[in-house]
Amino acid sequence: MKIAVVVGSVRENRVSDRLAKWVVDEVGKLANVETIDLKDYPMPFMDEAISPRFNPERQPVPEVKRWLDKIAEFDGYVFVTPEYNRSTSGVLKNAIDYLDFQMEKKPVALVAHGSTGGAQAVASLRMALPGVGAVTVPQALFFTDWVAKAIDEEGMLKEELSDAPHGPQSSLKTQVETLIWYVKALKNARTA
Ligand SMILES: Cc1cc2nc3c(=O)[nH]c(=O)nc-3n(C[C@H](O)[C@H](O)[C@H](O)COP(=O)(O)O)c2cc1C
Repeated sequence: MKIAVVVGSVRENRVSDRLAKWVVDEVGKLANVETIDLKDYPMPFMDEAISPRFNPERQPVPEVKRWLDKIAEFDGYVFVTPEYNRSTSGVLKNAIDYLDFQMEKKPVALVAHGSTGGAQAVASLRMALPGVGAVTVPQALFFTDWVAKAIDEEGMLKEELSDAPHGPQSSLKTQVETLIWYVKALKNARTA
């Protein structure tokens, strides 16, 4: 079972990378995990003449093909998304817009953050991801603490938060376990 943790911000001094490291550690306890940093996949704004899912003759430019081939490798995903102007980031939405069937019938867990917790980033992804056939798991993780204070650069959550009974660590554990449940269920169904 292979899970990708996608970092949804390419901003200088971003905090999504810290969150992603924290998530990777938790996912790594149950599955093979790889970080996909959109910083490593620079792509133009989606400019193809035909919508990807309706273009059997599609020949994406090499930098897009590289992203498509990478994302196709996984059975499930965690998207770590900031909230920018009541939505997900433009860079993550652009990367999604390039997909055709790479995430078809595969599950995505959402980990969001923002000054107000990222609920609208999650809502925007729940609207966008069905467009590429992906399934979002019912819960999401809204990281409401100040990320840069709560998680260090290595992805370590502050001790008092990791021990809190209903704190972010226990929410993340539940989120990852749910994702794994959906990975198994959908993988079985796809191969049946
Ligand atoms: C352009 C921009 C727009 C933002 N809009 C929102 C917003 O609508 N709601 C919110 O909760 N936070 C908003 N924020 C705060 C970000 O979610 C917060 O700074 C977060 O740390 C950004 O993630 P990043 O550091 O990984 O890029 C915005 C930040 C930026 C840069």
